Amino acid sequence: MHPDLANREIILGVTGSIAAYKACEIASRLTEAGATVRAALTQSAQEFVGAVSFEGITGNCVITSMFDPGLNPEIEHIALAKRASAFLIAPATANIIAKMAHGLADDWLSTTLLATRAPIVIAPAMNTQMYTHVATQENIATLKARGCIFVGPDAGQLACGDVGAGRLIETPAILEALVCALHVDKPLRGKKVLITSGGNHEPIDPVRFIGNRSSGKMGHALALEALRLGAEVTVVTGPHRVPLPHGVETVEVETAHEMLEAVEAHFEDCAVFIGAAAVADYRVERPALDKHKHSDAMLTLSLVPNPDIAASVSLRKRPDQITVGFAAETSHITEHAQDKLKRKHLDLIVANEVGVAESGFGTDTDRAWLIKANEAVVDLGLLAKTELAQAVFSALALNGTGSLKA
Ligand code: C5P
Repeated sequence: MHPDLANREIILGVTGSIAAYKACEIASRLTEAGATVRAALTQSAQEFVGAVSFEGITGNCVITSMFDPGLNPEIEHIALAKRASAFLIAPATANIIAKMAHGLADDWLSTTLLATRAPIVIAPAMNTQMYTHVATQENIATLKARGCIFVGPDAGQLACGDVGAGRLIETPAILEALVCALHVDKPLRGKKVLITSGGNHEPIDPVRFIGNRSSGKMGHALALEALRLGAEVTVVTGPHRVPLPHGVETVEVETAHEMLEAVEAHFEDCAVFIGAAAVADYRVERPALDKHKHSDAMLTLSLVPNPDIAASVSLRKRPDQITVGFAAETSHITEHAQDKLKRKHLDLIVANEVGVAESGFGTDTDRAWLIKANEAVVDLGLLAKTELAQAVFSALALNGTGSLKA
Protein backbone atom coordinates (compact mmCIF):
# COMPACT_ATOMS: atom_id res chain seq x y z
CA MET A 1 0.00 0.00 0.00
CA HIS A 2 1.15 3.53 -0.70
CA PRO A 3 3.26 5.24 2.02
CA ASP A 4 1.35 8.51 1.53
CA LEU A 5 -1.72 7.09 3.28
CA ALA A 6 0.10 6.59 6.59
CA ASN A 7 -0.77 9.04 9.38
CA ARG A 8 -3.46 10.77 7.33
CA GLU A 9 -6.94 11.41 8.68
CA ILE A 10 -9.44 10.32 6.06
CA ILE A 11 -13.18 10.96 6.36
CA LEU A 12 -14.91 8.06 4.62
CA GLY A 13 -18.43 9.19 3.69
CA VAL A 14 -20.68 6.19 3.04
CA THR A 15 -24.04 6.89 1.40
CA GLY A 16 -27.11 4.76 0.72
CA SER A 17 -26.19 2.46 -2.14
CA ILE A 18 -26.33 -1.32 -2.36
CA ALA A 19 -22.52 -1.06 -2.72
CA ALA A 20 -22.23 0.40 0.82
CA TYR A 21 -20.89 -2.93 2.14
CA LYS A 22 -17.84 -2.50 -0.12
CA ALA A 23 -16.88 0.56 1.93
CA CYS A 24 -15.92 -1.87 4.73
CA GLU A 25 -13.09 -3.18 2.53
CA ILE A 26 -12.03 0.37 1.68
CA ALA A 27 -11.97 1.27 5.40
CA SER A 28 -9.97 -1.86 6.10
CA ARG A 29 -7.34 -1.17 3.40
CA LEU A 30 -6.95 2.44 4.54
CA THR A 31 -6.55 1.38 8.17
CA GLU A 32 -3.94 -1.25 7.16
CA ALA A 33 -2.06 1.51 5.31
CA GLY A 34 -1.78 3.46 8.59
CA ALA A 35 -4.50 6.05 7.94
CA THR A 36 -6.88 7.20 10.67
CA VAL A 37 -10.28 6.50 9.17
CA ARG A 38 -13.40 8.26 10.38
CA ALA A 39 -16.47 6.72 8.77
CA ALA A 40 -19.57 8.88 8.42
CA LEU A 41 -22.72 6.97 7.44
CA THR A 42 -25.75 8.79 6.10
CA GLN A 43 -29.20 7.75 7.30
CA SER A 44 -29.83 5.68 4.17
CA ALA A 45 -26.35 4.07 4.27
CA GLN A 46 -27.34 2.64 7.65
CA GLU A 47 -30.15 0.73 5.93
CA PHE A 48 -27.48 -1.19 3.99
CA VAL A 49 -24.57 -1.53 6.40
CA GLY A 50 -24.04 -1.25 10.15
CA ALA A 51 -22.00 1.38 11.96
CA VAL A 52 -20.60 -1.32 14.25
CA SER A 53 -18.73 -2.91 11.31
CA PHE A 54 -16.92 0.35 10.58
CA GLU A 55 -16.21 0.91 14.26
CA GLY A 56 -14.61 -2.54 14.46
CA ILE A 57 -12.55 -2.03 11.29
CA THR A 58 -11.36 1.51 11.96
CA GLY A 59 -11.14 1.48 15.75
CA ASN A 60 -12.85 4.87 15.75
CA CYS A 61 -16.34 6.00 16.62
CA VAL A 62 -18.59 6.18 13.57
CA ILE A 63 -20.60 9.27 12.75
CA THR A 64 -24.25 8.44 12.14
CA SER A 65 -25.99 11.69 12.93
CA MET A 66 -25.34 15.38 13.33
CA PHE A 67 -26.16 15.33 17.02
CA ASP A 68 -24.82 12.17 18.67
CA PRO A 69 -24.93 12.72 22.45
CA GLY A 70 -21.51 12.29 24.02
CA LEU A 71 -19.59 12.31 20.73
CA ASN A 72 -19.89 15.95 19.83
CA PRO A 73 -16.44 17.10 20.93
CA GLU A 74 -14.82 14.33 18.82
CA ILE A 75 -16.94 14.63 15.68
CA GLU A 76 -17.67 18.33 15.72
CA HIS A 77 -18.07 18.96 12.02
CA ILE A 78 -16.13 22.18 11.62
CA ALA A 79 -13.15 20.83 13.57
CA LEU A 80 -13.09 17.62 11.50
CA ALA A 81 -13.62 19.52 8.26
CA LYS A 82 -10.50 21.56 9.06
CA ARG A 83 -8.42 18.67 10.37
CA ALA A 84 -9.11 16.03 7.69
CA SER A 85 -6.39 15.24 5.15
CA ALA A 86 -9.04 14.24 2.59
CA PHE A 87 -12.65 13.18 2.15
CA LEU A 88 -13.54 10.01 0.30
CA ILE A 89 -17.19 9.47 -0.58
CA ALA A 90 -17.58 5.79 -1.47
CA PRO A 91 -20.12 4.79 -2.56
CA ALA A 92 -21.53 8.18 -3.57
CA THR A 93 -25.21 8.27 -4.55
CA ALA A 94 -26.82 10.67 -7.01
CA ASN A 95 -28.29 12.36 -3.95
CA ILE A 96 -25.00 13.27 -2.21
CA ILE A 97 -23.53 14.38 -5.55
CA ALA A 98 -26.55 16.66 -6.12
CA LYS A 99 -26.39 18.00 -2.56
CA MET A 100 -22.67 18.78 -2.90
CA ALA A 101 -23.15 20.46 -6.28
CA HIS A 102 -25.83 22.73 -4.82
CA GLY A 103 -24.31 23.32 -1.40
CA LEU A 104 -27.05 21.64 0.61
CA ALA A 105 -26.20 20.91 4.21
CA ASP A 106 -28.93 18.83 5.83
CA ASP A 107 -26.95 16.12 7.62
CA TRP A 108 -23.46 15.60 9.09
CA LEU A 109 -21.77 14.52 5.84
CA SER A 110 -23.18 17.20 3.55
CA THR A 111 -22.61 19.90 6.19
CA THR A 112 -19.00 18.85 6.75
CA LEU A 113 -18.34 18.62 3.01
CA LEU A 114 -19.46 22.23 2.72
CA ALA A 115 -17.16 23.26 5.55
CA THR A 116 -14.01 21.53 4.34
CA ARG A 117 -11.29 22.71 1.98
CA ALA A 118 -9.53 19.33 2.00
CA PRO A 119 -9.32 17.31 -1.26
CA ILE A 120 -12.51 15.34 -2.04
CA VAL A 121 -12.59 12.04 -3.92
CA ILE A 122 -15.97 10.74 -5.08
CA ALA A 123 -16.66 7.15 -6.19
CA PRO A 124 -20.20 7.10 -7.61
CA ALA A 125 -22.46 4.04 -7.51
CA MET A 126 -26.01 4.11 -8.80
CA ASN A 127 -28.38 2.84 -11.49
CA THR A 128 -27.22 3.65 -15.06
CA GLN A 129 -30.30 5.75 -15.82
CA MET A 130 -29.64 7.85 -12.72
CA TYR A 131 -25.93 8.14 -13.54
CA THR A 132 -26.45 9.16 -17.15
CA HIS A 133 -29.32 11.57 -16.33
CA VAL A 134 -28.43 15.07 -17.42
CA ALA A 135 -29.00 16.35 -13.86
CA THR A 136 -26.39 13.96 -12.41
CA GLN A 137 -23.96 14.60 -15.26
CA GLU A 138 -24.28 18.37 -14.78
CA ASN A 139 -23.74 18.00 -11.04
CA ILE A 140 -20.63 15.90 -11.68
CA ALA A 141 -19.31 18.49 -14.15
CA THR A 142 -19.89 21.24 -11.55
CA LEU A 143 -18.00 19.32 -8.87
CA LYS A 144 -15.16 18.42 -11.23
CA ALA A 145 -14.79 22.10 -12.14
CA ARG A 146 -14.46 22.80 -8.40
CA GLY A 147 -11.63 20.29 -8.11
CA CYS A 148 -13.43 17.19 -6.79
CA ILE A 149 -11.83 14.01 -8.12
CA PHE A 150 -14.17 11.37 -9.54
CA VAL A 151 -13.14 7.74 -9.78
CA GLY A 152 -15.36 5.29 -11.67
CA PRO A 153 -18.03 4.14 -11.94
CA ASP A 154 -17.39 0.83 -13.68
CA ALA A 155 -19.76 -0.61 -16.22
CA GLY A 156 -21.37 -4.02 -15.83
CA GLN A 157 -24.32 -5.84 -14.33
CA LEU A 158 -25.98 -3.68 -11.65
CA ALA A 159 -27.87 -4.88 -8.58
CA CYS A 160 -31.18 -3.81 -10.16
CA GLY A 161 -30.52 -6.13 -13.13
CA ASP A 162 -29.69 -3.35 -15.60
CA VAL A 163 -26.38 -3.45 -17.45
CA GLY A 164 -24.37 -0.25 -17.85
CA ALA A 165 -22.25 2.35 -16.05
CA GLY A 166 -22.92 2.65 -12.32
CA ARG A 167 -21.00 -0.04 -10.44
CA LEU A 168 -18.69 1.16 -7.68
CA ILE A 169 -15.17 0.90 -9.11
CA GLU A 170 -12.86 -1.60 -7.39
CA THR A 171 -11.04 -0.65 -4.17
CA PRO A 172 -7.45 -0.34 -5.56
CA ALA A 173 -8.57 2.29 -8.09
CA ILE A 174 -10.34 4.26 -5.32
CA LEU A 175 -7.26 4.16 -3.08
CA GLU A 176 -5.00 5.26 -5.96
CA ALA A 177 -7.29 8.23 -6.67
CA LEU A 178 -7.04 9.14 -2.98
CA VAL A 179 -3.22 8.89 -3.08
CA CYS A 180 -3.20 11.32 -6.03
CA ALA A 181 -5.64 13.70 -4.33
CA LEU A 182 -3.56 13.83 -1.13
CA HIS A 183 -0.60 15.22 -3.06
CA VAL A 184 -1.74 18.79 -3.68
CA ASP A 185 1.57 19.97 -5.13
CA LYS A 186 1.43 19.09 -8.86
CA PRO A 187 4.83 19.99 -10.42
CA LEU A 188 4.05 17.94 -13.55
CA ARG A 189 0.69 19.55 -14.32
CA GLY A 190 0.42 20.05 -18.07
CA LYS A 191 3.32 17.67 -18.77
CA LYS A 192 3.06 14.33 -20.52
CA VAL A 193 4.86 11.27 -19.24
CA LEU A 194 5.23 8.24 -21.50
CA ILE A 195 6.05 4.89 -19.89
CA THR A 196 6.68 1.44 -21.34
CA SER A 197 5.69 -1.42 -19.07
CA GLY A 198 5.17 -5.18 -18.94
CA GLY A 199 6.89 -7.73 -21.16
CA ASN A 200 6.43 -8.84 -24.77
CA HIS A 201 4.97 -11.86 -26.45
CA GLU A 202 6.84 -12.70 -29.64
CA PRO A 203 4.84 -15.20 -31.70
CA ILE A 204 6.22 -18.61 -32.65
CA ASP A 205 3.01 -19.69 -34.37
CA PRO A 206 -0.66 -18.63 -34.00
CA VAL A 207 -0.92 -20.14 -30.49
CA ARG A 208 2.60 -20.01 -29.00
CA PHE A 209 4.94 -17.20 -28.09
CA ILE A 210 8.26 -16.36 -26.44
CA GLY A 211 7.62 -14.27 -23.31
CA ASN A 212 9.19 -13.15 -20.05
CA ARG A 213 8.28 -12.79 -16.39
CA SER A 214 7.56 -9.03 -16.28
CA SER A 215 4.59 -8.33 -13.97
CA GLY A 216 4.18 -4.64 -14.84
CA LYS A 217 4.50 -3.67 -11.14
CA MET A 218 7.28 -1.11 -11.75
CA GLY A 219 5.37 0.46 -14.64
CA HIS A 220 2.31 0.67 -12.40
CA ALA A 221 4.27 2.39 -9.60
CA LEU A 222 5.82 4.89 -12.06
CA ALA A 223 2.44 5.67 -13.65
CA LEU A 224 0.84 6.26 -10.24
CA GLU A 225 3.69 8.54 -9.17
CA ALA A 226 3.45 10.55 -12.41
CA LEU A 227 -0.32 10.92 -11.85
CA ARG A 228 0.28 11.94 -8.23
CA LEU A 229 2.58 14.72 -9.47
CA GLY A 230 -0.12 15.91 -11.85
CA ALA A 231 1.16 14.58 -15.20
CA GLU A 232 -0.90 13.25 -18.08
CA VAL A 233 0.28 9.68 -18.31
CA THR A 234 0.39 7.27 -21.26
CA VAL A 235 1.53 3.71 -20.67
CA VAL A 236 2.42 1.50 -23.60
CA THR A 237 2.17 -1.91 -22.05
CA GLY A 238 2.93 -5.42 -23.14
CA PRO A 239 1.29 -8.37 -21.38
CA HIS A 240 1.20 -7.71 -17.62
CA ARG A 241 -0.35 -9.10 -14.43
CA VAL A 242 -1.01 -5.90 -12.48
CA PRO A 243 -3.76 -3.55 -13.73
CA LEU A 244 -2.64 0.01 -14.47
CA PRO A 245 -3.90 2.92 -12.34
CA HIS A 246 -7.26 4.43 -13.21
CA GLY A 247 -6.71 7.64 -15.17
CA VAL A 248 -3.77 6.66 -17.37
CA GLU A 249 -4.10 6.35 -21.13
CA THR A 250 -3.23 2.74 -21.83
CA VAL A 251 -1.99 1.35 -25.15
CA GLU A 252 -1.93 -2.46 -25.07
CA VAL A 253 0.63 -4.15 -27.35
CA GLU A 254 2.14 -7.61 -27.63
CA THR A 255 5.41 -7.50 -29.56
CA ALA A 256 8.46 -5.24 -29.30
CA HIS A 257 7.73 -3.89 -32.79
CA GLU A 258 4.19 -2.91 -31.79
CA MET A 259 5.63 -1.30 -28.64
CA LEU A 260 8.12 0.75 -30.68
CA GLU A 261 5.35 1.90 -33.04
CA ALA A 262 3.11 3.01 -30.14
CA VAL A 263 6.01 4.76 -28.37
CA GLU A 264 6.98 6.61 -31.54
CA ALA A 265 3.38 7.77 -31.97
CA HIS A 266 3.39 9.33 -28.46
CA PHE A 267 7.02 10.42 -28.01
CA GLU A 268 6.80 13.82 -29.70
CA ASP A 269 4.42 15.21 -27.05
CA CYS A 270 6.06 13.79 -23.95
CA ALA A 271 8.31 15.62 -21.50
CA VAL A 272 9.56 12.41 -19.91
CA PHE A 273 9.94 8.91 -21.38
CA ILE A 274 10.55 6.02 -19.00
CA GLY A 275 11.41 2.59 -20.40
CA ALA A 276 10.29 0.21 -17.67
CA ALA A 277 9.23 -2.59 -20.03
CA ALA A 278 11.19 -5.81 -20.21
CA VAL A 279 11.42 -5.60 -23.98
CA ALA A 280 12.04 -8.91 -25.77
CA ASP A 281 15.57 -8.81 -27.14
CA TYR A 282 14.75 -11.24 -29.96
CA ARG A 283 11.79 -12.31 -32.06
CA VAL A 284 11.20 -15.35 -34.21
CA GLU A 285 12.34 -14.45 -37.71
CA ARG A 286 9.36 -16.07 -39.46
CA PRO A 287 6.51 -17.05 -37.15
CA ALA A 288 4.65 -20.07 -38.60
CA LEU A 289 1.28 -19.25 -40.14
CA ASP A 290 -0.09 -22.64 -39.03
CA LYS A 291 0.23 -24.21 -35.60
CA HIS A 292 3.34 -26.40 -35.28
CA LYS A 293 2.27 -30.04 -35.11
CA HIS A 294 3.51 -32.19 -32.25
CA SER A 295 6.53 -34.18 -33.34
CA ASP A 296 9.54 -35.91 -31.78
CA ALA A 297 11.87 -34.14 -34.21
CA MET A 298 13.98 -31.20 -33.04
CA LEU A 299 12.64 -27.75 -33.83
CA THR A 300 15.07 -24.91 -34.42
CA LEU A 301 13.78 -21.35 -34.22
CA SER A 302 15.72 -18.64 -35.94
CA LEU A 303 15.75 -15.48 -33.79
CA VAL A 304 16.51 -11.96 -34.95
CA PRO A 305 17.21 -8.94 -32.69
CA ASN A 306 14.43 -6.50 -31.87
CA PRO A 307 14.83 -2.72 -32.10
CA ASP A 308 15.99 -0.94 -28.94
CA ILE A 309 13.05 1.33 -28.10
CA ALA A 310 14.75 3.40 -25.38
CA ALA A 311 17.86 3.96 -27.51
CA SER A 312 15.89 4.83 -30.61
CA VAL A 313 13.77 7.54 -28.93
CA SER A 314 16.75 8.87 -26.95
CA LEU A 315 18.63 9.48 -30.19
CA ARG A 316 15.92 11.80 -31.47
CA LYS A 317 14.94 13.54 -28.22
CA ARG A 318 14.81 17.34 -28.05
CA PRO A 319 16.76 19.20 -25.32
CA ASP A 320 13.52 19.65 -23.34
CA GLN A 321 12.81 15.90 -23.28
CA ILE A 322 14.15 13.45 -20.71
CA THR A 323 14.62 9.71 -21.19
CA VAL A 324 14.98 7.23 -18.36
CA GLY A 325 15.82 3.55 -18.58
CA PHE A 326 16.08 0.53 -16.30
CA ALA A 327 18.94 -1.94 -16.18
CA ALA A 328 18.00 -5.27 -14.63
CA GLU A 329 21.29 -6.98 -13.81
CA THR A 330 22.55 -10.03 -11.98
CA SER A 331 26.25 -9.05 -11.61
CA HIS A 332 28.51 -5.96 -11.97
CA ILE A 333 25.22 -4.11 -11.66
CA THR A 334 26.28 -0.45 -11.67
CA GLU A 335 29.04 -0.99 -14.28
CA HIS A 336 26.61 -2.58 -16.74
CA ALA A 337 24.04 0.13 -16.02
CA GLN A 338 26.58 2.92 -16.63
CA ASP A 339 27.43 1.34 -19.96
CA LYS A 340 23.71 1.24 -20.94
CA LEU A 341 23.20 4.85 -19.85
CA LYS A 342 25.85 5.91 -22.40
CA ARG A 343 24.99 3.44 -25.14
CA LYS A 344 21.28 4.31 -25.07
CA HIS A 345 21.84 8.10 -24.62
CA LEU A 346 19.65 8.14 -21.49
CA ASP A 347 19.55 10.97 -18.94
CA LEU A 348 19.01 8.64 -16.00
CA ILE A 349 19.19 4.90 -15.51
CA VAL A 350 17.81 2.85 -12.64
CA ALA A 351 20.01 -0.17 -12.00
CA ASN A 352 18.28 -2.98 -10.17
CA GLU A 353 19.27 -6.41 -9.07
CA VAL A 354 17.32 -9.36 -10.46
CA GLY A 355 17.43 -13.03 -9.67
CA VAL A 356 17.30 -12.57 -5.87
CA ALA A 357 14.25 -13.15 -3.68
CA GLU A 358 13.38 -9.56 -2.75
CA SER A 359 14.34 -7.76 -5.96
CA GLY A 360 13.37 -7.99 -9.64
CA PHE A 361 10.48 -9.46 -11.60
CA GLY A 362 7.16 -9.70 -9.75
CA THR A 363 8.49 -8.49 -6.36
CA ASP A 364 7.10 -5.48 -4.48
CA THR A 365 10.60 -4.29 -3.58
CA ASP A 366 13.83 -3.63 -5.48
CA ARG A 367 17.50 -3.31 -4.65
CA ALA A 368 18.28 -0.24 -6.74
CA TRP A 369 20.80 2.44 -7.71
CA LEU A 370 20.22 5.70 -9.62
CA ILE A 371 22.85 6.76 -12.16
CA LYS A 372 23.18 9.97 -14.19
CA ALA A 373 26.03 10.74 -16.57
CA ASN A 374 29.09 12.26 -14.81
CA GLU A 375 27.49 12.04 -11.38
CA ALA A 376 28.11 9.80 -8.40
CA VAL A 377 26.02 6.62 -8.25
CA VAL A 378 23.18 6.94 -5.70
CA ASP A 379 22.66 3.71 -3.77
CA LEU A 380 18.98 3.52 -2.80
CA GLY A 381 19.28 0.17 -1.00
CA LEU A 382 16.26 -2.12 -0.81
CA LEU A 383 13.02 -0.18 -1.21
CA ALA A 384 9.38 -0.60 -2.25
CA LYS A 385 8.65 -0.10 -5.96
CA THR A 386 6.38 2.83 -4.96
CA GLU A 387 9.33 4.43 -3.15
CA LEU A 388 11.62 3.73 -6.10
CA ALA A 389 9.13 5.47 -8.40
CA GLN A 390 9.19 8.51 -6.07
CA ALA A 391 13.01 8.50 -6.07
CA VAL A 392 13.08 8.40 -9.90
CA PHE A 393 10.86 11.50 -10.23
CA SER A 394 12.73 13.32 -7.43
CA ALA A 395 15.97 12.67 -9.32
CA LEU A 396 14.51 14.44 -12.34
CA ALA A 397 14.73 17.70 -10.34
CA LEU A 398 11.21 19.04 -10.68
CA ASN A 399 11.44 22.74 -10.08
CA GLY A 400 8.78 25.17 -8.91
CA THR A 401 7.84 26.30 -12.41
CA GLY A 402 6.96 22.75 -13.38
CA SER A 403 9.90 22.38 -15.73
CA LEU A 404 12.10 19.35 -15.68
CA LYS A 405 15.80 18.90 -15.96
CA ALA A 406 17.56 15.59 -15.49
O1 C5P B 1 19.69 -3.61 -22.65
P1 C5P B 1 18.64 -3.84 -21.65
O2 C5P B 1 17.48 -4.66 -22.14
O3 C5P B 1 19.12 -4.31 -20.31
O4 C5P B 1 18.10 -2.35 -21.38
C1 C5P B 1 17.10 -2.10 -20.48
C2 C5P B 1 16.45 -0.77 -20.75
O5 C5P B 1 16.28 -0.53 -22.13
C3 C5P B 1 15.05 -0.72 -20.18
O6 C5P B 1 14.76 0.62 -19.88
C4 C5P B 1 14.21 -1.25 -21.33
O7 C5P B 1 12.85 -0.84 -21.23
C5 C5P B 1 14.91 -0.64 -22.51
N1 C5P B 1 14.87 -1.46 -23.73
C6 C5P B 1 14.17 -1.02 -24.84
N2 C5P B 1 14.17 -1.76 -26.00
C7 C5P B 1 14.86 -2.93 -26.07
C8 C5P B 1 15.57 -3.39 -24.96
C9 C5P B 1 15.56 -2.64 -23.80
O8 C5P B 1 13.54 0.02 -24.77
N3 C5P B 1 14.82 -3.61 -27.19
